[in-house]
Amino acid sequence: MDAITADDVHKSYGSIKAVDGISFKVQKGEVYSFLGPNGAGKTTTVEMLEGLRKADRGEIRVLGEEPWHEASKLGRTVGVMPQDFRFIERITSREAIRYYCSLFSVRDKTKELLSLVDLEEVQNVQFQNLSGGQKQKLGICLALINDPELIFLDEPTTGLDPKARRKIWDLIRKLKDEGKTVILTTHYLEEAEMLADRVAIMDHGKIIAEGSPGEIINRMGKGRKLTVPYGEKLQEYLSKDLKLDCNRTGDSISVSIHSNKDVINILDFAEKNGIELTSLSLKEDTLEDIFVDLIAEKEGTS
Ligand SMILES: Nc1ncnc2c1ncn2[C@@H]1O[C@H](COP(=O)(O)OP(=O)(O)OP(=O)(O)O)[C@@H](O)[C@H]1O
Ligand SMILES: [Mg+2]
Repeated sequence: MDAITADDVHKSYGSIKAVDGISFKVQKGEVYSFLGPNGAGKTTTVEMLEGLRKADRGEIRVLGEEPWHEASKLGRTVGVMPQDFRFIERITSREAIRYYCSLFSVRDKTKELLSLVDLEEVQNVQFQNLSGGQKQKLGICLALINDPELIFLDEPTTGLDPKARRKIWDLIRKLKDEGKTVILTTHYLEEAEMLADRVAIMDHGKIIAEGSPGEIINRMGKGRKLTVPYGEKLQEYLSKDLKLDCNRTGDSISVSIHSNKDVINILDFAEKNGIELTSLSLKEDTLEDIFVDLIAEKEGTS
């Protein structure tokens, strides 16, 4: 069953088309991720789904309801962690959670939520004195107070240290295991590739690619890339003789290969010409490689 359906949704601010006719569906229990450069329209999209902003045009249903008109009803089953989460400066983490529990008329879950995101140590610290990552963790806590079936997380791991980020990944996996639907906005492509069942890549208000990370990589990936140390002679051989697509970055050349034969030819050439291959790597395109190519194509830079 669908948790969310959006059909031809538009939102403009003056002449800026923040969201320009997007349609998508999210099934219950899915982790669905919005990706895209700054200003692509991700936050505007999720805020319309959350009932915080009214769409100019198009149909949206969230858990069967129209979010703008049914925002208060949806508030009981939906959790929201906004981008750049802020709270009352002088309230401590413990007080904030306790207050939200009373707002939602649920039992006091302060202890378990503090431990869920590792905030016990700073439970008595005022919001203004928490680190950036701690503030974000508190934001996630508050989104989970009402045990929501659908959770919106807008850049939950931005600015977190690697350990804290892993903790949030574990939490998202746990929410998924519990059958919750998670809408995850992120700039970390590897995070989406790892956690999301499906992703939507947005640019200039449009969805320019959608599917599971694996599908997108199969459909749009350029296959395998071999990276070797840069050398003039080697570069010439790769592009002129083998006619392969080469890309030089710093001291290395990345080359798109079509078959194992290409690799054998390259190694053979290096051997015959006394070229020392001090490093060598072969890898498939990642979601990040595809994302960078897609956005570059749109900007006309590749
Ligand atoms: N309230 C507003 N008034 C005017 N313009 C707005 C408003 N909110 C967003 N915009 C504009 O709409 C566009 C989309 O913004 P949005 O915040 O949805 O992007 P985003 O994909 O979330 O970007 P980021 O990755 O930086 O968070 C941007 O050009 C932004 O400047
Ligand atoms: Mg945003």
